[in-house]
Amino acid sequence: MVIAIALLVIVVGSVLFHLLTPWWSTPLASGWAEMDSTLHITLVVTGVFFVAINLFVVYTLWRFRHRKGSRAAYQPENRKLERGLIVLTTIGIVALLAPGLKVYARYVQPPEDAMLLEVLGLQWQWHYRFAGADGKLGATDTRFVSAQNPYGLDPADAGGRDDVLVLNSEVHLPMGKPIKVLLRSHDVLHDYFVPQFRARMNIVPGQVSWFWFTPTKAGRYEAMCAQLCGMGHANMRGFVVVEDEAAFKAWVARQATYATSMAAPTAAAAGPAAAGDALAQGRSLAQSKGCVACHTIDGSAGVGPTWKGLYGKLETMTDGSTAKVDDEYIRAFIRDPKARAVRGFAQVMPQIALNDGEIDALLAYIKSHGADPASAPVQR
Ligand code: CUA
Repeated sequence: MVIAIALLVIVVGSVLFHLLTPWWSTPLASGWAEMDSTLHITLVVTGVFFVAINLFVVYTLWRFRHRKGSRAAYQPENRKLERGLIVLTTIGIVALLAPGLKVYARYVQPPEDAMLLEVLGLQWQWHYRFAGADGKLGATDTRFVSAQNPYGLDPADAGGRDDVLVLNSEVHLPMGKPIKVLLRSHDVLHDYFVPQFRARMNIVPGQVSWFWFTPTKAGRYEAMCAQLCGMGHANMRGFVVVEDEAAFKAWVARQATYATSMAAPTAAAAGPAAAGDALAQGRSLAQSKGCVACHTIDGSAGVGPTWKGLYGKLETMTDGSTAKVDDEYIRAFIRDPKARAVRGFAQVMPQIALNDGEIDALLAYIKSHGADPASAPVQR
């Protein structure tokens, strides 16, 4: 009887929780209202079965409780009951699967006029690419991936010259236009997920997956990685800014294309060599390249050493040797993170695509958080 009461409390509590919960899904900001309908159908079907099955158990526990003199009767088969249960279960499972399959089929069939957006996932950051004026994404190959060419664009393919490269975790999109999202990974499994768009898709290394959606509300939405992809997974975040067409066009015009990034890789990225600019660039690189996923600047523990007081410090390696953290040490570490292993830290730092100018900027930024920036040694 205690179990019957407990089950009754669970059923009533679950229904009340659903009605009174403050945790509703985020407001929809894309054309995928069908996703929400599918979720509702799933919730209703599973909810009805949950309530019905538990109430049936409560009823049997009460109806067939032990009574003096009563005897259990054995009924080997009840064809009518079996048929009824098979039909009911079949209807339930079809109601669970069919809407999802229908919506998914539409989800991976973008309209012809959809704008192309490539999302590149890498430990632990997001990059984006647009097709440019010709409407075509240039060919890529892993052979071409380098610090200057993180997308691996084929230099021989003229179609890639006008591709707009967004080496940043924030991307802008025009409102009301269908977007076909093509997903690539540089290293391991990732998953691009923007809850407000009801859109997500696994990113499998070596293949291109896709989906489409139409952003319907202006705003800044957080994109997250929804597939455990290593130590920095929780901080693998990006942003999608949805704005009107004119604002979007102006933003695109400010981005580098493959042609301009190849023509002046350092000048375009580094700008004037003033110290303040280098510091600002270093700060934005720490964000866009995902360094902040593992390195804090406030001294708190992270996956990697905090940058507070790092510069100028004597670091101990796992083999017991020590090394002073100076320009050379940091440069060498960024270029080849697997060459040394610092005591107390897992050897998980990925090799990040950075050119010399960018490494200098990052160095200036790390230095600014050093133990005593004023006495930091001048350039060798
Ligand atoms: Cu990428 Cu988790």
